[in-house]
Amino acid sequence: MMMISCLETITCALLFFSPIVSTYPADVEKGRRRVVHVMEDDTGAVIVQTAPGKVVTHRGGTITLPCRYHHEPEDVDPNRIRIKWTKVSDAFQFEDVFVALGRQQKAFGSYIGRLSLEQTGPGDASVIIHNISLQDYGRYECEVTNDMEDDMGFVNLDLEGVVFPYYPPSGRYKLNYHQAEEVCRQQDAILASHAQLHKAWLEGLDWCNAGWLEDGSVQYPISHPRDQCGRKESPPGVRNYGYRHKDDERYDAFCFTSNLNGRVYFLKRFKKVNYPEAVKACQRDDAAIAKVGQLYAAWKIQLLDRCEAGWVEDGSIRYPIVNPRTRCGGPDPGVRNLGFPDKKFRLYGVYCFRRNTDIRSTQAQKETTTKPANGTESF
Ligand SMILES: *[C@@H]1O[C@H](CO)[C@@H](O)[C@H](O)[C@H]1NC(C)=O
Ligand SMILES: *[C@@H]1O[C@H](CO)[C@@H](O)[C@H](O)[C@H]1NC(C)=O
Repeated sequence: MMMISCLETITCALLFFSPIVSTYPADVEKGRRRVVHVMEDDTGAVIVQTAPGKVVTHRGGTITLPCRYHHEPEDVDPNRIRIKWTKVSDAFQFEDVFVALGRQQKAFGSYIGRLSLEQTGPGDASVIIHNISLQDYGRYECEVTNDMEDDMGFVNLDLEGVVFPYYPPSGRYKLNYHQAEEVCRQQDAILASHAQLHKAWLEGLDWCNAGWLEDGSVQYPISHPRDQCGRKESPPGVRNYGYRHKDDERYDAFCFTSNLNGRVYFLKRFKKVNYPEAVKACQRDDAAIAKVGQLYAAWKIQLLDRCEAGWVEDGSIRYPIVNPRTRCGGPDPGVRNLGFPDKKFRLYGVYCFRRNTDIRSTQAQKETTTKPANGTESF
């Protein structure tokens, strides 16, 4: 990397430590370039500007990661400008995303075929990513290099969605970090970040069991302090046990999921079903039994509200409530969880998930959010 070799000179050391990555709030949308004068120097410099804060989309969406640059002197051969995008995880692991050198471009890994340079004009290093996945969430580094110099900026890609606590049929506090990652994946989700859990706490999530987060820390959100959950005198907040041993220690998980390319519904049937019958009933309806993450996404994003307990894929019994009412599990909205009964019990209905078959139906679905079945007037 350019920077390593140039660290030896005073100028480059200066460049390395000066705050030349600058942000330019309102100018991003207008596409204007605010000239940020950083250093008086005749070796020239590349200056990279990225949007402060974050850009927000959802699973399946399209997003631009904004990044602009200019360089002095301005007559640098454009074929010698290198643009490089890298994803940076909380654990400071770097994943190649995209690189362009002059007209040559290359996307890496899961970004192949769905990422391109925006190319609105000189100095534009922004990239457009299509069909955003849960894994795309995170922090991206935009680095621009010419022969002499190098600068970088960061863009945070945020997703709309929902955080949910999860524990498996085997019970509470049974998951090490890797198993927590796996159960979230099985429920159509990923381990939540601290920022996502914090946002969920602001929106009212109160959960008295500690769960793994994506960065390897273990935390839990409390809005109503009580003695069973830490101490009553402690202020509300996200309680943090810190980074725990990823193989040896066991907790629950906090998972995150985002928009669905499909619809969750309660299957209407005459009689109650046991678990194997529930799975078959969804299959016969050209669908699959819903995963926990799908039920949460439907509740949060599609406002699915149904006061009937149903099987979901992991063998738990749940139902989603948007408009709380006394007969339906208490005063707060949420997805109710009745635990993991014997799979032979014929006591419940079933929630199914049907994937959209084409892009047009995805559009149509965004426009007609599912109305709660009962009690719409209580909005
Ligand atoms: C979008 O990505 C998902 C995987 O994340 C894939 O299953 C789906 O086919 C993709 N859709 C399109 C239109 O490429
Ligand atoms: C919702 O409506 C159905 C019939 O319209 C009724 O059987 C059911 O009890 C209602 N549920 C609630 C929670 O009001």
